[in-house]
Amino acid sequence: MSAISHIDVINALRHVNDPDLHKDLVTLNMIKDVKINGSDVEFTVELTTPACPLKGKIEADCVSAVKSRVNGVAEIKVNMSSRVSSHNDERKEAILPGVKNTIAVASGKGGVGKSTVAVNLAVSLAKDGAKVGLIDADIYGPSIPLMLGIKEKPQIYQHPETKKMLPLENYGIKLMSIGFLIDDNNPVIWRGPMASGAVKQFMSDVYWGELDYLIFDLPPGTGDIQLTLVQTIPLTGAVIVTTPQEVSLIDARKGLKMFQRVNVPVFGIIENMSYFIAPDTGNRYEIFGNGGGEKLAVELNTSYLGGIPIDPRIREGGDKGKPIVFDMADTEYAGIISGISRRLAAEISINNMNAGSNKVEISLGE
Ligand SMILES: Nc1ncnc2c1ncn2[C@@H]1O[C@H](COP(=O)(O)OP(=O)(O)OP(=O)(O)O)[C@@H](O)[C@H]1O
Ligand SMILES: [Mg+2]
Repeated sequence: MSAISHIDVINALRHVNDPDLHKDLVTLNMIKDVKINGSDVEFTVELTTPACPLKGKIEADCVSAVKSRVNGVAEIKVNMSSRVSSHNDERKEAILPGVKNTIAVASGKGGVGKSTVAVNLAVSLAKDGAKVGLIDADIYGPSIPLMLGIKEKPQIYQHPETKKMLPLENYGIKLMSIGFLIDDNNPVIWRGPMASGAVKQFMSDVYWGELDYLIFDLPPGTGDIQLTLVQTIPLTGAVIVTTPQEVSLIDARKGLKMFQRVNVPVFGIIENMSYFIAPDTGNRYEIFGNGGGEKLAVELNTSYLGGIPIDPRIREGGDKGKPIVFDMADTEYAGIISGISRRLAAEISINNMNAGSNKVEISLGE
């Protein structure tokens, strides 16, 4: 029997597709460090995000492809790793050079759970191993610090060399909030240029370091301030949070149109407060109606990223500064939110690939 060669392994892996990117792993340049030791094979799969929703499937597909297509293989060891693909954009490179992707969490209507969703998405991506930052750009009521357990206005330190402001860190994510800059007792009446000036400062004067995803919690609405902000931030894309009822959907539609107007892709719609499961009876109640987010996604030709139920633990997590995906990671609802964050990460990878940011070069290892 002839010895196993690198090329046999690579050829076998040409039959494994990334189900989101619709190309095989070799073409996508995801196979690294192929090592052959007698009849044992080891290689690394480098995904475009650590939050890949199909990680387990891809790994299993690799094992079965090598097993069935390479003669004489004994042990197969697959190391799963990731390198987040970057949104290639000159404006982003100029102002946020270490940040790979920027995502706005937006809603037309206020109070739909945008900040709750932004925090839980951020924490969930960080838990999966991504480097994540969060900017609370809600001039009407910055609520993210509280949701992340930061009660008092913190002292902001400077980076010793760059003299830039250092973001705060909690639950593995870096945070800056418009609330850190304003005085609670003297509310500011914001105008578009002021809001965009503050957000610009968060991008240029904060030492973010290397980040895979920087998430912006935008103020609700689709007026001048929001439009100025989405034009100020070099956005990879946006997600829109809505509740299932008509009044919220109408505003979500306006939100999506606002992003389309400025050529920012909308990665999808997240429906919050989708349903309530009564803990005593297990009955499901659709308090704000049913299926609205999903229908809107079809109508507007974007993805439906998922629905989050209403649950007192989600609200308490926000009020206590302990996001449910961190504090109750094993609950079904934390699982639902993590699933949504992984769908979002996949949409970002698809967007970046279609924009041509993944250069293909094949490395066969040693
Ligand atoms: N799925 C949920 N289950 C239970 N409570 C929720 C859920 N989502 C959000 N909430 C609660 O609803 C309230 C509003 O949520 P949140 O502040 O996240 O909304 P928002 O859209 O950011 O509001 P605003 O427009 O004021 O910025 C909060 O008290 C939050 O804890
Ligand atoms: Mg909010």
